[in-house]
Amino acid sequence: MSLSTINPTNTKAWKALQNHYKTIKNKHLKDLFTQSPERAETFSIQWNDFYVDYSKNRIDETTKTLLIDLAKEVQLDKAIQSYFRGEVINETERRSVLHTALRVPATSNITIDDSDIVPEITIIKDKIKSFSDQIINGTLKGYSNKSFTDIVNIGIGGSDLGPLMVTESLEYYKNHLNIHYISNVDGDHVHQNLKKLNPETTLFIIVSKSFETQETLTNALTARKWFIKNASENNINKHFVAVSSNTSKAIDFGIDSDNIFPLWDWVGGRFSIWSAVGLSISLSVGYENFEALLEGGYEMDEHFRTTNFEENIPIILGMLSIWYANFFEVESEAVIPYSQYLHRLPAYLQQAIMESNGKSVDRNGDKTTYQTGTIIWGEPGTNAQHAFFQLIHQGTKLIPAEFIGFKQSLFEDKDHHDKLMANFFAQTEALMDGKDATDVLKSLVSENLSTEKIKQLTPFKVFEGNKPTTTILIDKLTPKSLGSLISLYEQRIFVQGIVWNIFSYDQWGVELGKQLATKILSEIDNSEVFEHDSSTKSLLKHYLN
Ligand code: F6P
Repeated sequence: MSLSTINPTNTKAWKALQNHYKTIKNKHLKDLFTQSPERAETFSIQWNDFYVDYSKNRIDETTKTLLIDLAKEVQLDKAIQSYFRGEVINETERRSVLHTALRVPATSNITIDDSDIVPEITIIKDKIKSFSDQIINGTLKGYSNKSFTDIVNIGIGGSDLGPLMVTESLEYYKNHLNIHYISNVDGDHVHQNLKKLNPETTLFIIVSKSFETQETLTNALTARKWFIKNASENNINKHFVAVSSNTSKAIDFGIDSDNIFPLWDWVGGRFSIWSAVGLSISLSVGYENFEALLEGGYEMDEHFRTTNFEENIPIILGMLSIWYANFFEVESEAVIPYSQYLHRLPAYLQQAIMESNGKSVDRNGDKTTYQTGTIIWGEPGTNAQHAFFQLIHQGTKLIPAEFIGFKQSLFEDKDHHDKLMANFFAQTEALMDGKDATDVLKSLVSENLSTEKIKQLTPFKVFEGNKPTTTILIDKLTPKSLGSLISLYEQRIFVQGIVWNIFSYDQWGVELGKQLATKILSEIDNSEVFEHDSSTKSLLKHYLN
């Protein structure tokens, strides 16, 4: 067994944190800042083009020390080494977890079962590059000798959310190709997209690590039928490529073996954008930008692997999530990117974080007695401010929020960007400071309201403040900085999984529903409803009638 199996609640640090929590829980962030004016410096990290300010969190220096003690007591340092060395840390699936290997320089050496995997990664990267170059420059053509204009990525979960999020995030850098993503088995999704496409100039990428996923295979078959109706079966090899670790299944589907981009079992679906799953990214922004994304990911990995815990961004942010989840008992965290380009980041993180750490059995096989997992949600600012910020400011729930912003905008419209960023800074200040009754009173008096009206309105206008936020301020949204940001979240997932003593890299929880759906589909096909609870039975009967 390569990972420790320490129950975090049995550590000295956990017990100390429980006691320490009692001393912190009633302290107001505003007071913590007054007591230590240098707080921003103490609790911030400048790394490359990232400035991470975690000073507006409900912590003091003791909290940080104890959280780091906890990370050390559960042997996070050893776990990091096992992870990067390619040990089988995904024990329930008996796999290594090596998406990090996809972003190392070609001169590196990473060995699994006595063989260096870097050369084979390099071969696939070269294949991605040459394929992307030829499609982008128009030398690789469709069946009627026209260059491609549209690329359709058919996949779901990790085979969709990551490439989609990155393609959207890097839209500013994109070329002339139109990229579409079809994921849902809802036929309206595929047909709505096909309606807009011309088979002569459309390339389909079927992305499925397993090549067994119902949604993807159904959509791929529909796309294939649509294509054949307009072209012919012989032309399929010019218009369909696949990304999969199940090469034989892809061949059975009718994909030419030369058109298959392989994937290794040590790349988890939700961590696969760095592999050929990112082919649509490379097609959209060009291979050089795809490489820059990998480089950004690699640099964050190196920061994570080599920096002491006190200055280590993924470790500090991961431990803060644990502080809130297990001591403040918060239920969810918000991620608010102040960039419209990052509008799919929260959805992408939902899979990455919740599919990884949504577990309730620990690495000993025992039921956990503490909370794990983080419910993650969010929308871009400033839109989010006009939607759910009310609840964060004045609701009954404590929701730590992460603000991600950029110093420079891509179109360099200073007027817009200054307004955007003024909101970015104002919100974290407002969430922290709040507005007490004295200040509310002062503003109401200045509005010349009657004493009675002032008394009536005051409680509604009070903001308690003391709402924790972390600010990640990055110089500019580039392929490289995006790569570092994604890797930052990936490594945080790892940190939290290690501390919670769970396996972060399997996803058994998605299987049961899939199996039941297969059974129900055969009942629907035969218009025959078998044994179910009365609710499911009645719903099925309604559907069939
Ligand atoms: O159902 C969950 C899941 O297995 C994800 O983990 C994965 O990203 C997705 O389905 C798609 O799987 P595949 O790439 O094998 O089609």
